[in-house]
Amino acid sequence: MKVSKRCSSILGSLTLEITARVKAMKTQGHDVIGFGAGEPDFGTPQWIVDAAKEALDKGLTRYTPASGTPELKQAICDRYKKKYGLEYDSAQVVVSNGAKHSLFNVFQAILNPGDEVIIPAPYWLSYPELVKMADGVPVIVDTAEEYDFKMTADALREAITPRTKAVIINNPSNPTGSVYSRDELKNVLDVAIGRDLCVVGDDIYEELVYDCKEMVCIPTLGEKYMENTIVVSGASKTYAMTGWRIGYALSPVNIAKAMGNFQSHSTSNPNSIAQYATIAALNGPEKGVEDMRSAFDVRRRTMHERINAIEGLSCRLPSGAFYMMMNISGVLGKKWEGRQIGGSMDFASFLLDAQKVAVVPGISFGADNYVRMSYATSLENIEKGLDRIEAFCASLT
Ligand SMILES: Cc1ncc(COP(=O)(O)O)c(C=O)c1O
Repeated sequence: MKVSKRCSSILGSLTLEITARVKAMKTQGHDVIGFGAGEPDFGTPQWIVDAAKEALDKGLTRYTPASGTPELKQAICDRYKKKYGLEYDSAQVVVSNGAKHSLFNVFQAILNPGDEVIIPAPYWLSYPELVKMADGVPVIVDTAEEYDFKMTADALREAITPRTKAVIINNPSNPTGSVYSRDELKNVLDVAIGRDLCVVGDDIYEELVYDCKEMVCIPTLGEKYMENTIVVSGASKTYAMTGWRIGYALSPVNIAKAMGNFQSHSTSNPNSIAQYATIAALNGPEKGVEDMRSAFDVRRRTMHERINAIEGLSCRLPSGAFYMMMNISGVLGKKWEGRQIGGSMDFASFLLDAQKVAVVPGISFGADNYVRMSYATSLENIEKGLDRIEAFCASLT
């Protein structure tokens, strides 16, 4: 049996693969330190779990409307009003099986074959594949570490062609942890809006911003930004609910309708219990998020300090999410046990063999001089893992 052309061009997720490999090694008894995690290492707060139990006890186990329950849609609108002062109507909201699924729906709804989507690199590795799945063409725009890996207005302008349909802004960013200021965002997006592009704002890490930086949700820039933007977010990272699979998109009504119709024939509604739990998450106390943010903040500083103290490695202090890009260019070309480190894949693979430390090669984010380090792991693991990385670098010839 032959695989379709569309599926044969799609790559599997390397981060999920590495997570699975680390889990398997741990099960086999290896003492592996994993810096690959794409999810908070905290449990879902108890009041959210309790709400799920209550929904089960009440028998809320049937189909819901395909694009989400009216109660959850309203809770999402209320949150955007409270947090950002934005007025969304329930008809603009589609709830899906995680933010990844929301993004999948977005590209299915807005792209025609051959439409180009501009993706700043380093990028979250699913973006190009999600665009390709909708017969679109990913156009990668490199950013510079010196400019905190943020896309500039000039870089965006140069990448736009008559086929450009959309641009993705992931703020805070996975994998760089960069956070755009209001002015930076406005500068870049004025170019996009001026060319009538659709802006896809992936805000999944919106609650994980440090140093009192402001999280700017794109539609708060003004009416014309709201009209041209589809905002995607969800419960996964904010409420440590990665396994529950709830994401949502807020868009103009016609796009929401199209996504809802599409979803009604693909997955139907997202899990009913998870939807009820998400209402509790959105309406519940902020404490869980605050505690998580403070813990991440301490780890972020520790990891940053430790990395910069290792010869050949460096990183900037990121302002958001729970990742940092470790610059490995100082060790590229060196040898481990006679084998040359040609790029991020070699670095990650030799490090895993030598020291049982898992990192994600930057090549999967379009940045081969880096590896991604997640600090969604304990301080103890961070210290231990960086001791090992230090030993690995010292052993290179
Ligand atoms: C940038 C970005 N967007 C979207 C997602 C998807 O989140 P979810 O687990 O809700 O599908 C992730 C998950 O890692 C992410 O890093």
